[in-house]
Amino acid sequence: MEISKESLAELAQQIKDDLIGWRRYLHKHPELSFQEKHTSQFICDTLQTFDGLELSRPTETSVMAKLKGPRPGKTLAIRADIDALPIHEENDCDFVSENPGVMHACGHDGHTAILLGTAKILSSLKDQLQGEIRFLFQHAEEQAPGGAQQMVDAGVMEGVDRVIGLHLHSPLEVGNLNIKAGPTHAASDEFSITVIGVGGHAAQPHDAIDSLAIAAQVVTNLQHIVSRNTDPLENLVLSVTKIMGGSAFNVIPGSVELAGTVRSFNPEVRKHVPGMMERVVKGITEAHGGTYEFSYKHGHDPVINDQATAELVKETLIEAFGQEAVQPMIPTMGGEDFSAFQAKAPGTYFWVGAGNVSKGIVHPHHHPRFAIDEDSLVIGVQAFLHLAFKLVK
Ligand code: NI
Repeated sequence: MEISKESLAELAQQIKDDLIGWRRYLHKHPELSFQEKHTSQFICDTLQTFDGLELSRPTETSVMAKLKGPRPGKTLAIRADIDALPIHEENDCDFVSENPGVMHACGHDGHTAILLGTAKILSSLKDQLQGEIRFLFQHAEEQAPGGAQQMVDAGVMEGVDRVIGLHLHSPLEVGNLNIKAGPTHAASDEFSITVIGVGGHAAQPHDAIDSLAIAAQVVTNLQHIVSRNTDPLENLVLSVTKIMGGSAFNVIPGSVELAGTVRSFNPEVRKHVPGMMERVVKGITEAHGGTYEFSYKHGHDPVINDQATAELVKETLIEAFGQEAVQPMIPTMGGEDFSAFQAKAPGTYFWVGAGNVSKGIVHPHHHPRFAIDEDSLVIGVQAFLHLAFKLVK
C-alpha cells in the first residue's frame, strides 16, 4: 500500500491528544541538562508500549530507539532534544512547571512529544517501512559541552546515512516551516579573562594598578576584533556577558574577571579569534602595568545543512504542506549542538512555526512566559512521517 499524504496527515491528527498529553506531562516535570532521569524514563516507558522498537540508553539520560522495516533502505536518524532551562515559569496554565526554577522554555517538551508520536505511528506502519529509522532522544542541548557529542561518542550515529531534527519556533506563526541549505546556527565558543592588577586604596590610585579600569578598556577594545579586524561580510559576534570584581566603594580591586561568548560561521574567522583576543588583552593589560589570564573554549560547531539533504527535505515539506507554508530559514547566531550529529552524516535541521499572535503566543524562546501553539505538534509529526518515508530511499 502506498502511504498517501492524506493518510499521514490523518494519522498525525488522530494522535493529537497523545501529543498534547505527553507534552503537558513533560512541561509539568521539566529537568535540567544532564539531569533528565525522570524524563528519559518516561520516554522509555512510553516507547515500550509501541511495537517493534529496539530500545537502548546510549548515556544515563538519553534514549535511542531503532525501528527496522522489512525492505532494504537507508538509515535515517531523527533527533529530539529533551532538556529544560533554569528559568522560573511565569505562565499560569494548569500544566505549569512543578519544578520551581526549572522550565521547558524552549519547546523541547514539544520536540519530545513529536518524536514519541512519530515513533508510535511508524511502529504501527512498520511493515511498510524501508530501511531503518533511529529515534534519538538527546539530553543536554542547553548546556555545553552538550549531549549530542556524548551520544555520538556512544555510537548512535554508526551506520546512519542521514540525520534530521526540528525546532519549534515561536517567532514563526504556526502552520509555517522554515528551511535552508548551508549555515543556519553559529559556532558558539566561550572565553574567560582575568585582569590582574594590584589592589589598594581608592584615594591613592597611583599606588595601585587598577584592574577595574584596565578591564573596562579590555571590554571596549575587544569590539575592535569584530568591527576593525574581521571582514565586514563575515558574521562575528563577541559578547562580554560577565564582569566581576570589587567589594567596596573605597577599595581598588586587585583583579577583575570577565567572561563571554564568541559566535561565528566561517571556520577561518573562528580560528583567528582567540589569538586576536589574547593580543588585545595582553597589550592593554601590559600597557597599564597589569597581567592577565586568558582561556578560550571551543563549543558547538556551526549547524550547516547539507545541500542535497536540505533540498530533499524542502521538497518533501512542500509536498506535505504546500509551497506557501515553506519559507527560507534566516540563519541565527544562536548555537545548537545538532552539529555534532551532522559531523557524522549529512543532515538537515528545520523550524516548525509554533507562535500564534491571535492566541497571545508571542513570547520568545527562553522567556518565563514562553509557550507554543500545540497545533504545531501535529505538524511536526506530519513532517517527520513524510521524511521517514522519503529519506530512506
Ligand atoms: Ni531549544
